[in-house]
Amino acid sequence: MRMMAEQSTAFIYENIVKPVLFRFPPDDVHSAMLRMASSVGRSNVLTWGFSRVFTTRHPMLAQTVAGVRFRSPVGVSAGFDKNAETVRVMHSLGYGFMTVGSVTARPCAGNPKPWFHRHPEDKSLSVHVGLANLGSSDVLRTLERNAVYFEGDNFPVILSVAKTNNPETVSSEAAVEDYLTSLRRIKKSSAVQLVELNISCPNTYGGEPFTSPGLLEELLRGVDALKLAQPIFVKMPVNMKWEQFDGLLQVIVRHAVAGVTISNLVKDPKLLAHGRAEGVRGGMSGLPTQKVSNDLIAKTYKKYGKKLDIIGVGGVFTAEDAYAKIRRGAKVVALVTGLIYNGPQLGAQVQRGLVKLLRRDGFSSIEEAVGADIHSTLYTSNNE
Ligand SMILES: Cc1cc2nc3c(=O)[nH]c(=O)nc-3n(C[C@H](O)[C@H](O)[C@H](O)COP(=O)(O)O)c2cc1C
Repeated sequence: MRMMAEQSTAFIYENIVKPVLFRFPPDDVHSAMLRMASSVGRSNVLTWGFSRVFTTRHPMLAQTVAGVRFRSPVGVSAGFDKNAETVRVMHSLGYGFMTVGSVTARPCAGNPKPWFHRHPEDKSLSVHVGLANLGSSDVLRTLERNAVYFEGDNFPVILSVAKTNNPETVSSEAAVEDYLTSLRRIKKSSAVQLVELNISCPNTYGGEPFTSPGLLEELLRGVDALKLAQPIFVKMPVNMKWEQFDGLLQVIVRHAVAGVTISNLVKDPKLLAHGRAEGVRGGMSGLPTQKVSNDLIAKTYKKYGKKLDIIGVGGVFTAEDAYAKIRRGAKVVALVTGLIYNGPQLGAQVQRGLVKLLRRDGFSSIEEAVGADIHSTLYTSNNE
C-alpha cells in the first residue's frame, strides 16, 4: 500500500505536476510551493494522512548521530526552506530530519531576482539567493510554535546559520558577531537539536571569508565560548583542493565541533555537461555536486572518521545515491534538488531502497554500512 502510494505520487509528479511547474519561472514556482506546503502543514488531517502513507519507522534506519537520535538517515538540506514554513509537512512526508535556513542575525532580502535557473539535462539548479531570510529570531519563533508536532519522534531540526548578507558584516569581527548573535538565540531554544554553521555560501558580500583557516579559527573560538548544548556541524565548501579542504578540517577538529556537512554548491559552470547560458549566476546544485561531494566524504571519513560525523549532501536522487554516500562515511544524507526534480515522495522512496540495499549487503543496520567502502579499502591495502 505504501509502495503504491510512493510510486503513484512519483508518477503523477513526473508526468503531470512537473511538466506544468517547469513551464513557469523557477522563482515563482519555489514561492508557490512553499506557500502550498505551509498551508498543507497547517492541516491536521492532511499531515496525519501523509504520515500514514509516507512515514516508515524502520528499525534498521534509526541511529544516533552526535548524541541526537534520528528516526531515518534521509533528510532535507539547507536552502529549501529558509524560514521554517514547511517543517511540519516534511515531517509528515517521512523525512528523517530537516535543515532549516540558512538564517542570519538580521532579516535579509537577498540578491536581486532571479534567484534560480533550471538545468534539467544536468539535474541541477543555479542558485543566487544571497541568504534571503526573515532573520534567526523570527525563524526560531516559528520553529518553537511547531516543535510540539515533532517532540519525541526522533525528527531533529538542524538550523543552518550564516552571516547576514550586507555591507555591515564585511569585517571579520562584525561577521563573527553576526554568527554569534544567532547562536546565542539558538542556545536558549529547545526547538533546534543541531546547528549547521554555513561558512560556504557563495554570492554574498565579502565572499566566503571563513573558508580560510585563520578566520575559521577565529569564528570557532567564539562558538566554543558559547558552550551550546546543541552539537555543531560545519557546512563545507566544495570548490577547493583536498589539501585546502583538509586545512579547514585540521582547524575544525581542534574545536567543539561534532561534524561536517559535505557539501555546498559547486561554482564551476564547466561541471554542467550541457553548459550554462551567459548571464546566469550562482552556485550549482544537484548532479554536478555528486562526485566531488562523494570524494570529499570518503577522504574526510578516512582521515577524521573517528573525530567527525558526516552529513552527506549533493546529488541524491535515488537510494543508490544515498547509499554511496553512506558507504563512503556519511552517517546521514540530505537533499534539495532531488525533491524538486523527483517529487516530495523521494525521501520515502530512498528509505525503502536503503533497507533493500542494506539487506542485500548483509547489514543489519545503517550504522554497519557507514564507511563500509573505506573499511574494505583499508583492509585490502593493509593486507597487500
Ligand atoms: C534552492 C537552493 C537553496 C540553497 N540554499 C542554501 C542555504 O541557504 N544554505 C546552505 O547551506 N546551502 C544551501 N543550498 C545548498 C544545499 O543545501 C546543498 O548543499 C546543495 O544544493 C547540494 O545538494 P542537492 O544536490 O541535494 O541540492 C541551497 C541549494 C538549493 C538548491
